[in-house]
Amino acid sequence: MVELASLNSVSIITIDGPSASGKGTVAQKVASRLGFHYLDSGALYRLVALAALNSSTLLDAETDIARIAATLDVSFEGEKIVMSGIDVTEAIRQERIGTAASKISALSQVRQALTERQQAYAQAPGLVADGRDMGSVIFPMAKTKIFLTASAEVRAERRYKQLIGKGISANLHDILRDIRDRDVRDSARSIAPLQQHADSVLLDTSHMTIEEAVNFVVKVFETSEPKTVN
Ligand code: DC
Repeated sequence: MVELASLNSVSIITIDGPSASGKGTVAQKVASRLGFHYLDSGALYRLVALAALNSSTLLDAETDIARIAATLDVSFEGEKIVMSGIDVTEAIRQERIGTAASKISALSQVRQALTERQQAYAQAPGLVADGRDMGSVIFPMAKTKIFLTASAEVRAERRYKQLIGKGISANLHDILRDIRDRDVRDSARSIAPLQQHADSVLLDTSHMTIEEAVNFVVKVFETSEPKTVN
């Protein structure tokens, strides 16, 4: 069990927000600018989903999936993500894995099983963590909490361009529908739903460049007061 108070001495920035908002890109750039560690918590949910699908485990088999989450053999090697010795960096980015991740992330035992794993990333000098509940549940003591969003249309357009850029065929209407469905599922679940909390700063990147968003987060961090939990 990680004592939350033991994390008070590490500078933590949390960036929560909806699917395809660009929070991962912004979080990574903030981390590299400040020389901090980076946690992509969504990747953990995606890894659990991939492992569950690979072992033909039903996506609502809570205890079985929680066991998969607790025993996940994963290492983050720079940009590369390796699970049980296999490079799964590309595999976990598939839409079907994102959808499965969204489903299994509604199971409380699964969230519980991933909690400590996520908190273990809080190492000196600091951490930038992105996800849905980083500021509300995993790192309530974070010095800076950002809720990063963009309109569903802008997010769909960004995802569409990203896929086309990779030579993958895509349909803008399907992407927009998937994003809206995922928003509803991630926001409506009873445990750790996606929502902006009162102690986070809203950053709407609909009309911003990545650089502007990064500058904004760094500025908020440099001007925020440290928080502590007991
Ligand atoms: O950020 P992402 O698209 O990679 O996340 C995949 C899914 O994982 C997302 O639909 C919801 C879930 N998730 C979560 O419930 N809590 C987090 N901290 C991160 C992701």
